Amino acid sequence: ASTLAAAAQQSGRYFGTAVAANKLGDSTYTGILNREFDMVTAENEMKMDATEPNQGQFSFGNGDRIVNQARGQGKRVRGHALAWHSQQPGWMQNMGGSSLRSAMLNHVTQVASYYKGKIYAWDVVNEAFADGSSGGRRDSNLQRTGNDWIEAAFRAARSADPNAKLCYNDYNTDNWSHAKTQGVYNMVRDFKSRGVPIDCVGFQAHFNSGNPVPSNYHTTLGNFAALGVDVQITELDIEGSGSSQAQQYQGVVQACLSVARCTGITVWGIRDSDSWRASGTPLLFDGSGNKKAAYTSVLNVL
Ligand code: XIL
Repeated sequence: ASTLAAAAQQSGRYFGTAVAANKLGDSTYTGILNREFDMVTAENEMKMDATEPNQGQFSFGNGDRIVNQARGQGKRVRGHALAWHSQQPGWMQNMGGSSLRSAMLNHVTQVASYYKGKIYAWDVVNEAFADGSSGGRRDSNLQRTGNDWIEAAFRAARSADPNAKLCYNDYNTDNWSHAKTQGVYNMVRDFKSRGVPIDCVGFQAHFNSGNPVPSNYHTTLGNFAALGVDVQITELDIEGSGSSQAQQYQGVVQACLSVARCTGITVWGIRDSDSWRASGTPLLFDGSGNKKAAYTSVLNVL
């Protein structure tokens, strides 16, 4: 195969990227997007602040631009993200208690209903666990509405769009020996045992020298999959360059390929210049849109 999407399809998987609506007019960007990828995630346009800027007033223009472009090109869409402590609209940031709980559930219901039938998988809840050694939940206004806020969000999403896969998505959950990984694992196991509707777990996979690709990544992905959920690499980027970066990318792809229920990989942007990271060259194409060594290593191993 000669593109990432075609290569991933050989094993029934997808290869996706984050897309920014304001770059769809850039022909280099859109050319690579249309050629190489078969799954799209809106980088910011479907988050809470973008879709509900004023309470009860929804705004889907930029999200629609991305969804329509993707579907028009025969690509699928991962929805990102229905409930998150970050990128909340101003009106929500200072809310709490039962009014925040119902505002969050209404948001989940409205956004998932609006996009019903067009989303392959939703990141229903993003980044709800704490970093460090506790293995527990992150403190946030949503968490303070009660520990059951996550399952309430999943149930609302299932009612709104019964055919979308519903994912929990987080970062620093790649290394099996980390407390945060164990915390998420225990939540998913509990959800499965109690019938809370969850279908998948997303691993953001933002790697750098302080947070390298773990050698036990296949173990982590395999252990989650054994709970009866799909696993997906949802926001992959790896700081570095040259053959070292290429090797690390290859390791991530191999980890996914080694787990039957790892259904696909998404990189968090197209060219290095599109990356959310302030500096560095973490993606598969350089600033001019040329394929990097990391691109070739990924294509060769898929
Ligand atoms: C980032 C976007 O890439 C940036 O443009 C934005 O300023 C901040 O958010 N985890 C996530 C993504 O789940 O939504 C974040 O995206 C990166 C970290």
